[in-house]
Amino acid sequence: MKPISEQIKEKPYLGWLLFIATIIVVFILGLFASSVIERRAEAVFAYTPQVEYDNREPRNEIWGQNFPREFQSYYQTADTSFKSKHNGNAMIDMIDVDPRLVVLWAGYAFSKEYNQGRGHYYAIEDIRNILRTGAPKGKEKSPMPNTCWTCKSPDVPRLMAQTGPAEFYKGTWDEKGHEIVNPIGCADCHDAKTMNLQISRPALIEAFQRIGKNVSNASHQEMRSLVCAQCHVEYYFDKKKVEGVQYLTFPWDNGFSADNMEKYYDDINFTDWTHALSKAPMLKAQHPGYEVHMTGIHAQRGVSCADCHMPYKSEGGQKFTDHHIQSPLNNVANSCQVCHREETSKLVESVIERQDKIIENRDKLEELLVRAHVEAKKAWDLGASENIMNPVLIDIRHAQWRWDYAAASHGGSFHSPVEIGRIISTGLVKAQEARIKLARIFASLGFNEEVPYPDINTKEKAQKYIKLPMDKLNSDKKEFLKTIVPEWDKIASEREKNYSISIN
Ligand code: HEC
Ligand code: HEC
Ligand code: HEC
Ligand code: HEC
Repeated sequence: MKPISEQIKEKPYLGWLLFIATIIVVFILGLFASSVIERRAEAVFAYTPQVEYDNREPRNEIWGQNFPREFQSYYQTADTSFKSKHNGNAMIDMIDVDPRLVVLWAGYAFSKEYNQGRGHYYAIEDIRNILRTGAPKGKEKSPMPNTCWTCKSPDVPRLMAQTGPAEFYKGTWDEKGHEIVNPIGCADCHDAKTMNLQISRPALIEAFQRIGKNVSNASHQEMRSLVCAQCHVEYYFDKKKVEGVQYLTFPWDNGFSADNMEKYYDDINFTDWTHALSKAPMLKAQHPGYEVHMTGIHAQRGVSCADCHMPYKSEGGQKFTDHHIQSPLNNVANSCQVCHREETSKLVESVIERQDKIIENRDKLEELLVRAHVEAKKAWDLGASENIMNPVLIDIRHAQWRWDYAAASHGGSFHSPVEIGRIISTGLVKAQEARIKLARIFASLGFNEEVPYPDINTKEKAQKYIKLPMDKLNSDKKEFLKTIVPEWDKIASEREKNYSISIN
């Protein structure tokens, strides 16, 4: 081949071609460079604080000015359009889906209303709306203590910083209605100065202290689950710790399992309520999500809650943590598929398969529990003595605790299917033991018939069966929402005008 200079001499247009091609290449490279510089500038823009606020700033919108991507994705927890087979981000009226729950909780506020949770955005709205918090007005108090606010809002760490936890928990729920108005948010999980993850709830720190662990030594990956463990855990209100206070306590002293916690409660003779039909001394499991997750394969392989529920996301060349906390089944590509190569449909199928198998037996346990409560009531009606009934009631207590621990550990059938399966099996055994003892009691009382299963196939029928005055409860609530809640909001917005924020 001839040297290029000679070729150009023979065909001068070649020189022009080379010249134009070079210009095009340089131009494209220039575009790339400018795009990179722009993205860098955006990155700086996104992470330069625009406003300065106090470490206890409860308003997510204010933090959002400095961290728009995290804030905007957090705000998507307001979306209620996704539904998976068993969960999703819409609120589900669980008593309507499954009226047996009314009988299981007879005599306890959960029989009035119980919904499957939705996004963090709704935490305040939903605790105001739920019948369990009552309709406080004038001298009428809420049946719930202030402790119930603890897992709802970044106003909680703000108030606790002023008074300490015991003073915060003291009094009834209505007393702090005007103080707690911002839904779960930034200050619940982050330190405002460093943006590091932080534990803002003392109950978690205290629970670890009692078992000799210091949460401040937790690793970064552990923190990505522990921020959730501030709220997604089993708890009870300790009335003995501080006089006149229902002190939020996690029952972890013997360990995390259903059996360990059952022993903890038995040892201190704790009961949440006495069952209206069977008179059994009952326990209500809250939502042992963290405890159950810790027994599963993902936790054992070091996967955190945030890995699945808050995966990384890219936008405009910027990688950030997706704060749209929701069912990962609405986001398989960013969550599961970071680690698993299977197709979306396969992964979703694995989740549903585990859930369906667990629910099959959980439903059976529920039916046995309804029968046990109804039969125990019949035994009392026939004149059974407290002495012979006691062992039956303890079995019912333990069986229902296991059912509830499994049912209330939202996501548990996927987080740890083997453990949840085990807990339900032991619940089935306990419920059957109760019913065998009941059969003997019936025999000794000369009763030899089947105790009929109640007609409770709708929510309305079930609530009528346990004699709940639903019309009154609903109309009182409506009145409370119309008159009291707007007053709370007004006081709060006046207060928030005085918070110190400076704009740079
Ligand atoms: C301050 C307490 C608190 C913290 C911290 C918290 N949650 Fe929640 N979470 C709640 C409450 C309360 C609800 C129910 C809200 C409702 O239904 O109004 C909820 C609901 C949820 C839901 C259901 C949402 C849906 O769309 O189905 C998921 C999933 C969830 N949380 C996961 C997490 C994860 C993961 C973390 C940690 C990264 C976490 N939460 C941290 C209190 C908390
Ligand atoms: C339930 C806990 C929780 C809440 C509420 C929360 N975050 Fe986060 N945030 C996290 C976790 C977990 C990470 C990942 C941290 C890590 O791995 O270092 C994170 C990371 C961040 C980061 C670091 C950059 C990134 O995207 O990874 C910023 C900034 C941030 N969050 C801002 C916010 C803002 C603003 C809010 C309120 C609108 C908020 N967060 C609410 C848990 C939370
Ligand atoms: C951060 C990595 C990571 C993410 C994210 C993740 N997994 Fe996994 N998954 C693992 C590891 C590690 C194992 C254990 C496999 C082993 O050790 O052989 C596992 C195991 C499993 C198993 C088998 C568990 C069993 O019950 O026997 C299933 C099913 C599964 N994952 C589904 C999912 C789904 C669905 C998602 C999304 C919601 C998901 N994984 C998200 C890492 C991950
Ligand atoms: C390996 C992935 C993975 C990890 C890790 C994980 N989850 Fe889940 N979680 C899921 C899946 C999948 C579901 C089922 C979602 C569905 O059925 O739509 C779920 C369901 C839930 C639900 C119920 C959601 C709803 O829509 O009502 C909550 C609450 C929850 N998880 C919280 C947590 C918490 C808290 C942790 C850590 C202690 C955690 N999860 C760890 C994958 C995970």
